[in-house]
Amino acid sequence: MSADKGAYDDLPDGVIVVDAAGTVTQVNPSANRILATTADAVIGRSLPDVLPLVDAQGRDWWSCSQPFDGLDTRTRQPERSLQVSSGPMKGRELLVTAAYVRDEQRRLQRMVLVLRDNRSRERIDRSRADLVSTVAHELRSPLTSVKGFTATLLAKRDRFNDEQKQLMLQTVNADADRVTRLLTELLDVSRIDAGRLEMRRQVVDLGRAVRKAVAACIAAGECEDRFAVRVAEGLPEMWADPDKVDQIVGNLIENALRHGAGTVTITVAPCGSGAEVAVEDEGDGIASETAARVFTRFWRGNRGRGTGLGLYIVKGLVEAHGGSVEVGRAAGGGARFRFVLPAGVAPYDV
Ligand SMILES: Nc1ncnc2c1ncn2[C@@H]1O[C@H](COP(=O)(O)OP(=O)(O)OP(=O)(O)O)[C@@H](O)[C@H]1O
Ligand SMILES: [Mg+2]
Repeated sequence: MSADKGAYDDLPDGVIVVDAAGTVTQVNPSANRILATTADAVIGRSLPDVLPLVDAQGRDWWSCSQPFDGLDTRTRQPERSLQVSSGPMKGRELLVTAAYVRDEQRRLQRMVLVLRDNRSRERIDRSRADLVSTVAHELRSPLTSVKGFTATLLAKRDRFNDEQKQLMLQTVNADADRVTRLLTELLDVSRIDAGRLEMRRQVVDLGRAVRKAVAACIAAGECEDRFAVRVAEGLPEMWADPDKVDQIVGNLIENALRHGAGTVTITVAPCGSGAEVAVEDEGDGIASETAARVFTRFWRGNRGRGTGLGLYIVKGLVEAHGGSVEVGRAAGGGARFRFVLPAGVAPYDV
C-alpha cells in the first residue's frame, strides 16, 4: 500500500481495489471515511462482506452484477446509485463505479471500485422538491382567488352591484399580477442558481439609476417627501449591467417602502475602487438573528404579501457583478441594506 500512496490517498472519492477472487487488496482514506472503517479492518476480506450493497429494488448488487464471474468482455461498470444494506453505514446512498483490469486472455486481474457519497446529491434533490412544493403553494392561493371570483361572477353576475363587481375584478387583476411577478422572479432565481445570468456591462450612472427608481415610486403614488437621495462626488466609472442595477435598487427601495417606514434615505458613494449604495428606512428593521436569513429563498417576515424572493435575487445579481450585499441597522432605527459593486471593466469588443 505504501508504494501507492500519493494522489490516490488524497482523492476525495473512495477507491477500493480487489483481486480476481474478490478479496480487498487496497483501500484509500476516503473509502475508509465513507464506510466508517479502517484499512486494517477491510484488507484481506471479501468485497461483498466489506461493502454489502443493494440496488433501488433491494436486490443484492453483487449477485446481480456478478463482477467476478460475469462477461469477460466487460471493462467497466457504469455509475449506479446503491445503498449499503448492513453494518454501521446501513442505509447510506453511494454512487459506485467500477473498472475491470484484465490480462491478454481477458482474465480478471483486479477490479477498481470508486465510491462517492451521495448525500450532497440527495440534498440537492430535496431542496428541488422543497422548491417545487413552495412554488405550487405560492401559486395556489392567487389562482384560487382568480378562479373563485371569476366563477362567482360568471354564475351570479346579476346578484352583484357595480361596486362589488369592480372590487372582485380588482382582486382578480391584483392576483394575476402576483402570479406573473412570481413567475418572473422564479425565472431569475433559476438563472441565478444555474449560473446563467447574462451580464451586459455598460457605463452605469448609479446616481441616475437611484433617482430613476425613486421617480418611478413617486409616479406610482408614493409621496415625494418619503425619499432622500444623496449622491457623493468622485464616483468611478462603473461598468455594470444597467437592467440588473435597476432591479437591485428597485427591489431594495420597494422593500423599504413596503416593509419599513418613515423616510427612505438612499446614499451613493465611492467605496474602494468601486461604489456603494445604501438604502435605509425608519421602520422596525431586521433583528440581527434573522439578518442572515433574509437573503435566502422564500424567507419573509410576518407582514406583507411578498414571495420572499426579492432579496435572494438582489444577492444573486450583486454577486454576479462581483459585489456583495449586507443588512444592518440604520441610524434612524430601521433596516439598512448596503451593496458594493466593483468598478468593473468594459466587455471585450466582439
Ligand atoms: N426594509 C426592510 N425592513 C424590514 N423588513 C424587511 C425590509 N426589507 C426586507 N424585509 C424583510 O425581509 C423579507 C424578505 O424580503 P424579500 O424582498 O426577499 O421578500 P418580499 O419583499 O417579502 O417578497 P418579494 O419577493 O415580493 O420581494 C421580507 O418579507 C421582510 O420581512
Ligand atoms: Mg421584496
